[in-house]
Amino acid sequence: MGFKDNFLWGGALSAYQCEGAYNIDGKGISIADVKKMGSLGKMREMTDGIVEGQYYPSHEAIDFYHHYKEDLALFKELGFRCLRVSIAWSRIYPLGDEREPNEKGLQFYEDLFLECKRLEIDVMVTLFHAETPYHLYKTYGSWANKQYITFFERFAKTIIQRYKGLVRYWLTFNEINGLPYLPGQSINYKKGNKQDLYQAAHNQLVCCAIATKYAHEIDKECKVGCMLLYPTTYPFSSKPEDNLEVLKFKQELSFYSDAQIRGYYTPNMLKILENENVSLDITDKERELLQIGTVDFISFSYYNSNVLGTTKEQLEQANGNIIRGIKNPYLQSSEWGWQIDPIGLRIALNELYDKYQLPLFIVENGLGAKDTVTKKDEIIDDYRIDYLRAHIGAMKEAVDYDGVDVMGYTAWGPIDIVGAGTGQMSKRYGFIYVDKDDQGNGTLQRKKKKSFYWYQQVIKTNGEEL
Ligand code: BG6
Repeated sequence: MGFKDNFLWGGALSAYQCEGAYNIDGKGISIADVKKMGSLGKMREMTDGIVEGQYYPSHEAIDFYHHYKEDLALFKELGFRCLRVSIAWSRIYPLGDEREPNEKGLQFYEDLFLECKRLEIDVMVTLFHAETPYHLYKTYGSWANKQYITFFERFAKTIIQRYKGLVRYWLTFNEINGLPYLPGQSINYKKGNKQDLYQAAHNQLVCCAIATKYAHEIDKECKVGCMLLYPTTYPFSSKPEDNLEVLKFKQELSFYSDAQIRGYYTPNMLKILENENVSLDITDKERELLQIGTVDFISFSYYNSNVLGTTKEQLEQANGNIIRGIKNPYLQSSEWGWQIDPIGLRIALNELYDKYQLPLFIVENGLGAKDTVTKKDEIIDDYRIDYLRAHIGAMKEAVDYDGVDVMGYTAWGPIDIVGAGTGQMSKRYGFIYVDKDDQGNGTLQRKKKKSFYWYQQVIKTNGEEL
C-alpha cells in the first residue's frame, strides 16, 4: 500500500508563465509574448506584434529568469524530488528558423539544471509548451506547414543533446490533444478547418516521434513521455446517444496518445479522417518514425471533469480547462467555474491505465484561486489544501485499490505564475505567493502560504499524511 519510495513529488511550470525576461540575452519573441490580458471568462488574445503601451503579462511574469535560485531553494525546502519546466524555443532559436542556437539562452537552462542537480531535484522538461516563435507563426503560418518539422527537429535535438544527463524526463508537446480547442494559440489554424487541424496534429506527432527517438538513442537513462489533456467526461444522461457522444469525444482525444504510445493511427481515427475528407500528407519515413518513437510513460493534466450530451435543451454550461461542457449538479466549482472532481481523477487514472498499461505521471493538477494576504502577512489558503488533499487522496486510492502504476505528481504552478487562459496573476495556484497583481504592479517578493507547510508534510510522509 502507498506510493513507491521513489515517487516523484514536485511542481510544474512553463517558461512563458514564469520566466519573464522576454527580450533579454538574445531571446526572440514567441506567440506567448504577444498575448494581452484576458479576464475571468475572457481568454487572452494575440495582438499583431508587440503594441506600444499594451500590457503583456508574460514579459516580466514572475521574473523566474533572475529569481530561479531563490525559487529553487524554496522548492527544495518543500521537499521536491522533481521539477517540471519548459524551454522557451525563442530563447534558443530567437526566430525559429536559424541554423545556430543562441548560446546565452542555452546557458540559462544549463545553469538552472545544474542548480537542480546540486539540490538533488530531478528535472522534467517539456520541449513545447504553447510557445511557437512569433517569426515562424508570421512567416510559415499554421503548423500544417511541414517546414515546422525541420525547425522543431533542430530545436529539439539541440536541447536533448546539450542537456543529456541533466534531464531525466522529457515530455514532447504539452497537452497535444488540446489542439482542436486552441485553434489560434498553439498551431495557428482556422477553426473548423479539419484538413489543417489534422495535418498540424500529424506534424506535431512526427516532431514528438523524432524527439523521442533521438532522446532514446543518445541517453539510455532518460525516459520520454507524452503529455495529454485529460478531463474525465461523463454523459449528461443514460440515453445511449449521450453515451455515444462521450465515447466519440474520448476517441478523438486519444488519437494523439494512441499515436505516441502505439505508434500508429487506429482504425477509428483513420475513419474519422476519411469521413472528414482529410487527406494527410504522410510519408513512409514518417510512418516508420511514429512506430519507432513511442513513449515510455504517459503524463497528463487534470483540473476538472466535464459533462457532454446531445440534448437540445438550454442547459447551464460550465467552464473548464480548455474544454467546456454542461454544468454537473453534483459538483462544486472553482471561482473560475471549473468543476472540482477528485473522483474524476481516480477515474482518469483508471481509464488511462486500463487502456495502455504504461506508468502514469500527473504533471498538472491544482486549484486556481484568489488569495488574500492578512494583516499578519499570512496567506491562509485552506481551499487549496482541501482541493489538493482530495485529489492526492484520489490518486492514492487509484494506487492502493485499483492497482494503477503512478510514478509521480507535480502540482501545477507551485509558485504563483501568470494564468495561461486569462493571463491573470490573481488566478493563483502556488504554495508560494508572489506579490504582483493583474496590472503588473508589485514587488515580486515571495511568501510561503499555509499550503506550503501542508505540501511539505505530504512529501515528507510520501503521501501518508494528507
Ligand atoms: C494547462 C496548461 O492547460 O492548464 C497550463 O498546460 C495552464 O499552462 C493550466 O496554466 C491552468 O490553466 P490556467 O488558465 O488556469 O492558467
